[in-house]
Amino acid sequence: MPKTRLRLVGALAAVLVAAGVTTGTPAQAHERPATLAELAHRHGRYFGSATDNPELTDTAYTSVLGSEFDMITPGNGMKWYATEPQQGVFDWTNGDEIVDLARANHQRVRAHTLVWHSQLPDWLTGRDWTADELRAVLKKHIQTEVRHYRGKVYSWDVVNEAFNEDGTYRDTIWYRTLGPGYIADALRWAHQADPHAKLYLNDYNIEAVGPKSDAYYRLAQELKAQRVPLDGVGLQAHLALQYGYPTTLEDNLRRFSRLGLDTALTEVDVRMILPATDEKLAQQADWYRDLTAACLAVRRCVGITVWDYTDKYSWIPAFFPGEGAALPYDEQLRPKPAYFAIRQALGGK
Ligand code: G3I
Repeated sequence: MPKTRLRLVGALAAVLVAAGVTTGTPAQAHERPATLAELAHRHGRYFGSATDNPELTDTAYTSVLGSEFDMITPGNGMKWYATEPQQGVFDWTNGDEIVDLARANHQRVRAHTLVWHSQLPDWLTGRDWTADELRAVLKKHIQTEVRHYRGKVYSWDVVNEAFNEDGTYRDTIWYRTLGPGYIADALRWAHQADPHAKLYLNDYNIEAVGPKSDAYYRLAQELKAQRVPLDGVGLQAHLALQYGYPTTLEDNLRRFSRLGLDTALTEVDVRMILPATDEKLAQQADWYRDLTAACLAVRRCVGITVWDYTDKYSWIPAFFPGEGAALPYDEQLRPKPAYFAIRQALGGK
């Protein structure tokens, strides 16, 4: 190459380096801060977010959803009212949209939920059923849905919110009509339909040791003894600053581990009475740090999912008027102190 051209190339390279515009060298690739998912992965855990179909048109939102997390939970799209709106007529539109998006982003899916007392279609709640009829309806729903998503989801929340606060069975259409055996039946039917999906029981207010989590502990012991296919217990972790931190969370996770079960924090948010102040946001950050550390401290706590990642799409303000600011990103999708606290707990900078 002639000398002048060589000098030109050298000068151009110097300008590009000075401007930081070199072609992506490996050294530079490492400069991108690790995502929550990457940090969690270093501990053999996932870090997930719930999402919902209406939000998926928001491209700023989906960009963070698709990059920062490695596990996705549909907030509503796989519930009974959405998937079997008329008896025997199944609609996978919303669930499929989320599964397809997750797959495109190389994310796994925690599927949610098969058996719950809430968000049921009118055809199901609007009439009486004999036990035989309802058992057939439940089996068909579970097996059709689980088969549809077989091989596409990591886990299922098979039964959601089965207990009252005092540890008695919640009086639902399922319990009333079928008795407590509906839980073992549901797990067995789900396992038949997808032997590889991890099967969970999932509930709120079971983060601490207490009557409700004790009920799960006893039930899990019984189910294990009867060789019912149960893989894990999901602790939703809808926390509120005004009610205090569940200080026995780690012990609680550990006792389920010792039963041979996985655990996961499945729907984490930490709400507060508005307005959010710096002090409350700092306390919230401490709670996110502590709950992340608790999961990391217990070998079989497999991962953490926030119940959506941004205050923009949180369920809290609609359900608890005057409360909110519960998630690690604010309504403008800016990371909050809680986000940095999670990173810190995961060993990131
Ligand atoms: O689909 C209708 C829409 O047609 C209508 O225009 C709109 C008007 O309110 O309502 C829409 O339905 C809402 C639905 O979410 C879908 O957006 C319901 O009103 C609303 O009640 C429902 O809330 C969901 C809630 O479960 C129901 O209990 C939340 O989004 C969802 O995040 C929340 O998730 C639950 C978990 O499944 C189980 N654990 C607790 C958690 C928080 O409640």
